[in-house]
Amino acid sequence: MKTKLEIIQKIQEAEQFKDKVKTDPYRLKYHLMPLVGSLGDPNGMAQHQGIYHLYYLYSPRDYFNEIRGVNTWAHFSTKDFIHFKREPHTIYPDTLEDQNGIYSGCIYIENDVFHMLYTGNVRHVGNYDYVLEGREQNLIYTYSNDGIKFDFEKEVLMRNSDFPSHLTLHVRDPKVFKENGIYYMVLGARDKDDNGCVLLYQSNDLKSWQYIHDIKTKQPFGYMWECPDLIKINEQRYLITCPQGVRQSNHLYQNAHQCGYFKVSGDFKGDYKLEQFEQFDYGFDFYAARSFQDENNRTILIGWMGMPECEYTTNHVTKANGWQQCLAMPRVLEEKNGKLYQHPLEEMKELRKSHLRFIINNQLNLKSDCFELKVVLQHNSYFKMTIKKDCILEYCPDKQILSLCMNQSGDHRKIRTANINKLKELQIFVDTSSIEVFVNKGRITLTSRVFDLDNNILIEGSSILVDFYELNSYIIE
Ligand code: FRU
Repeated sequence: MKTKLEIIQKIQEAEQFKDKVKTDPYRLKYHLMPLVGSLGDPNGMAQHQGIYHLYYLYSPRDYFNEIRGVNTWAHFSTKDFIHFKREPHTIYPDTLEDQNGIYSGCIYIENDVFHMLYTGNVRHVGNYDYVLEGREQNLIYTYSNDGIKFDFEKEVLMRNSDFPSHLTLHVRDPKVFKENGIYYMVLGARDKDDNGCVLLYQSNDLKSWQYIHDIKTKQPFGYMWECPDLIKINEQRYLITCPQGVRQSNHLYQNAHQCGYFKVSGDFKGDYKLEQFEQFDYGFDFYAARSFQDENNRTILIGWMGMPECEYTTNHVTKANGWQQCLAMPRVLEEKNGKLYQHPLEEMKELRKSHLRFIINNQLNLKSDCFELKVVLQHNSYFKMTIKKDCILEYCPDKQILSLCMNQSGDHRKIRTANINKLKELQIFVDTSSIEVFVNKGRITLTSRVFDLDNNILIEGSSILVDFYELNSYIIE
């Protein structure tokens, strides 16, 4: 096990290369990235006295060529989602119970105290299956009085032996909320029959937790559910989670792992039912999304623009330059008829620096590597947009399919498709190495990294109304 000082020194050693990393042409302009090394799940997002705190898993491991390097929580703060401050890293894997990684968790703010609950990961060296033996996932608590300094003692609240006996050693990613004076916590889990589920706990003090029951589907749906988040919008409850091991079925579940939600009918602590799983996103890179409620009662969802355990996870294009991964654009969730719609934050409009409007009747050529495009199709007609030389977004009304085809800009990723009966509107955000497409007012999105520096844009179709905005960069202190 490493001491806190050794870990800090190691991170500082890697961060000396930050100026070199900055010169990578694939660094994004309005997406949050690590200084060096890898960014993982967003975590513990919260707003306190007007300031948003966004934490994320962070590891400088790329610098040391380690597969499993130290994992900490790094931190950005912002008042307006345009100006950001890189705050000091929060906690380090410096105890026996989290020595192999500060994994995902949450922040719950009450009476100006930032309560942090997270999973401490331990991986024993040996010949283990790491499902039933060889790992520990500990529920750990600590806190901070300002969201910046987390230097109080860590307290282990639960170990694997404290979780119900039908579970494997995969129990992680706590998320807490409060209702009628009681705290509830959900944890992602894999049971011994290899079925994914979520554990529900309750507490009066955030420290001592009583197990209520598992929340799961009637029929098995994957072997593990990660990053759960039980939310309520318009009095309707939804369980957001990331099921692993769900088999592809035509246009559904094309990625290695899924990220989406179940509408919860009935009482989540008693007689409940999970309705059909809905994917948030149909692109290649959207995972581990978690939400929080801000001081204006907006439910904001932030996802990781990446996908674990697939051939392109490593993003070797940027890894070669000492960093990888970024956060997806924050999205406001709206609930309508039992579905969650995603909308870009209003604040994003502040990034617009120019506006052009076109009606396309054949084709249009533009140039930019950082823009927003609003597209209105008058008659559910054919639409095609080519960016970054060969990345193609295309809608074929006869097949009712919207596709995102990456070609050479994909770094081993080829095509993703979504079934869209009637395409009315697209809102597309392109950054130096990413694309995010909001389809039909956010009913679904398609999110992907794109690796090519060509800044030509070609739009093809007829009777299509296009608003084109070039975008400024975030300002990061
Ligand atoms: C999701 C996840 C979490 C875990 C973390 C480890 O991407 O696998 O379940 O806490 O990442 O990096």
